[in-house]
Amino acid sequence: MIMPGEKVLIAYGTRYGSTEEISQEMGKTLEKEGLEVQLVDLKKTKSKEWPSLEPFDGVLVGSSIAVGKWMNEPQEFLKKHKAEIRKKEKILGMFVSCGSAMVNPSTRKPLYPKKYEKAKIDYLEKVMAKIGIEANIYDVFGGVYDFSESSRMGGFAKKMMKMGIKQLSEDLGIEIDENGKTDLRDWDQIQSFAKKFASLVKK
Ligand SMILES: Cc1cc2nc3c(=O)[nH]c(=O)nc-3n(C[C@H](O)[C@H](O)[C@H](O)COP(=O)(O)O)c2cc1C
Repeated sequence: MIMPGEKVLIAYGTRYGSTEEISQEMGKTLEKEGLEVQLVDLKKTKSKEWPSLEPFDGVLVGSSIAVGKWMNEPQEFLKKHKAEIRKKEKILGMFVSCGSAMVNPSTRKPLYPKKYEKAKIDYLEKVMAKIGIEANIYDVFGGVYDFSESSRMGGFAKKMMKMGIKQLSEDLGIEIDENGKTDLRDWDQIQSFAKKFASLVKK
């Protein structure tokens, strides 16, 4: 008899695409671990069409951070499923993509170790406490400086990001392409997070 594999939902909110790419990479890792994966972009999908948690053994919820805040949709998703999550029958993973967790593209070490630790508290532990839930696993990941033509960032966001980067490049000795894409995520960190999540789901 063929046993159906565990099913996992990855529900995310992205503004400029970093969180979406992280979600897609986690999806690939989870599939390699033998799990069935469904991804949902919570902003693009109408809330009444958001999937129910019923068929899933685990759920990963991720958000982009701007001005210290989660996007509304992933927060609403967690609030909507709060009662089910609190029963602790499903494994919950939470993550964000934010500047505070960006890594040096050469060494893959956090650019700001103290900010990384604070981001975990501010962007995850405080959000969990506010909603009244506890994730089984959570982490913060970096993002991308994308100033290319294809960037999803509007003029205002590009301006905000560019303001900080000159200083950042000088202080930390990293090169940021002012007309292209500089990826400051640690893909090993992202894949190992997904693997740990998979092992919790398979237990
Ligand atoms: C307008 C703006 C505000 C931001 N505010 C913060 C912030 O408060 N804290 C932080 O750590 N990163 C901040 N960032 C960095 C983003 O969180 C980071 O670029 C992230 O990868 C965006 O995810 P997304 O591409 O999925 O939208 C900000 C970026 C922009 C453009």
